[in-house]
Amino acid sequence: MESNTLKKIIPIEQLWINLDNFENRLYEISSSKDSYLNDISQYLIKAGGKRFRPICTLLAGELGNGNNEKIIDAAVAVELIHLGSLYHDDVIDEAETRRSVQSANVKWNATLSILAGDYLLARSSELAAETLGLESVKLLASTYAELVEGQTKEVQYQYDTDHNTDDYMKVIEGKTASLIRTSAKLGAMAAECDEKTTQAISKWAWHSGFIFQITDDILDLSSDTETLGKEGIVARLGGDEFAIVSPVFKDKSEAAGFARRLLTRINDRFEFGDRLSGEIHAGAWFDIGTPERLERLREMLGAER
Ligand code: FPP
Ligand code: MG
Repeated sequence: MESNTLKKIIPIEQLWINLDNFENRLYEISSSKDSYLNDISQYLIKAGGKRFRPICTLLAGELGNGNNEKIIDAAVAVELIHLGSLYHDDVIDEAETRRSVQSANVKWNATLSILAGDYLLARSSELAAETLGLESVKLLASTYAELVEGQTKEVQYQYDTDHNTDDYMKVIEGKTASLIRTSAKLGAMAAECDEKTTQAISKWAWHSGFIFQITDDILDLSSDTETLGKEGIVARLGGDEFAIVSPVFKDKSEAAGFARRLLTRINDRFEFGDRLSGEIHAGAWFDIGTPERLERLREMLGAER
């Protein structure tokens, strides 16, 4: 989304002034005297990004006392955790593209990506301890733990054909909604909002976090690399075995309809012919693998040969 469009949706001038200052502070806090590490750990910062989490922090901060320096530091602390998690996530996913540039694990390697992520996480903790206080340090640490729990569940369920929408909700609660909730809460705390306001904006952000991740997952299923700035499902297809879990179906027939459209699209794009196959379980699982599976999928869908 264009930043001007966002500015119209959130017409709070101070927020956008703070976002400009946030960028400078983000570079300052993430910098290392080691120029080699600096190049890697600031690589994804330079690549851009939506800055959704810091915007939530700055928005929550607007509900309080106008202590902009502290609110901006809260925004930097959450963005550094998010960035650190992306370096790690791209290693886990063996991703090739992030924010429209080559991912760090491809440009450098997995080891250096993990180290760059660790570095940003360390800087986040240091900043929080220095300027935000113990309660914020504790909140960031427990949120970091929630991210790891959510991500671990995602890996656990990756090839589990019995996992359902509730399981998916637990995954996204941990890996996404938790940090977005904390982004707002930290902004409210930095601005010394009262308890009721802090709870209200945190709850709003928590719900927004679910919506954010479900939207991200739908885009992952339906967009191309250029639009996404990273490989979506269609771009990642091409191996002999490929599996995705799709959380967004209400029931099996909806999943079947989607699978039919996706298969058509993929076949048109890649001309895989019979190498492409698919299977649906419990309305939440779509797997592309062997020709035998394609046969079963076609039977299930009643698809024409
Ligand atoms: C991106 O989402 C990834 C996350 C939201 C969380 C990643 C969390 C970890 C790697 C756990 C470790 C956490 C830290 C703080 C080191 P996505 O994978 O759905 O989307 P994308 O990869 O397509 O952008
Ligand atoms: Mg991922």
